[in-house]
Amino acid sequence: MVISELTRGQIADEITKYPLKRGALLPALHWVHAELGHVTHECAAELGEIFGIRPVEVMEVVSFYNMFYDSPQPRHHVRVCTNLPCSLRGARTLLSRLESHLGVKAGEVTPDGRVGLGHEECLGACAYAPMMRVDDVYYEDLDFEAATRILDSLD
Ligand code: FES
Repeated sequence: MVISELTRGQIADEITKYPLKRGALLPALHWVHAELGHVTHECAAELGEIFGIRPVEVMEVVSFYNMFYDSPQPRHHVRVCTNLPCSLRGARTLLSRLESHLGVKAGEVTPDGRVGLGHEECLGACAYAPMMRVDDVYYEDLDFEAATRILDSLD
């Protein structure tokens, strides 16, 4: 059993709030994600049993939302916005220089598992371009020096 009794209890309580069991699937996924860091196929099988749906239906939800992961993740997700306003203010160059700084390409994880680097669509901070998101924190008006200071300070 992968999902803890505590999380199973939370899910059972949540299910009582919905006319259809599967209405509680999103909160359940958040709790499982908080507990395990990702939702494996084994978790999906257990959630499928709880909700009376097929594991593939659970994974369809997991793959639809970009806040859920189906595999182990780096400690930090670093995403540089590369939409037009940020790109006009140097975001693509910034991302390229960060790739060199970290020694990985966008879409890859540093060998120590510390940073997963990537790009992101507009995050609604265009007036402060270029910007990047580190986990849930936005950093704006960036240049390479500021961005590397932030990356180098991550645990
Ligand atoms: Fe980068 Fe909007 S284009 S935040």
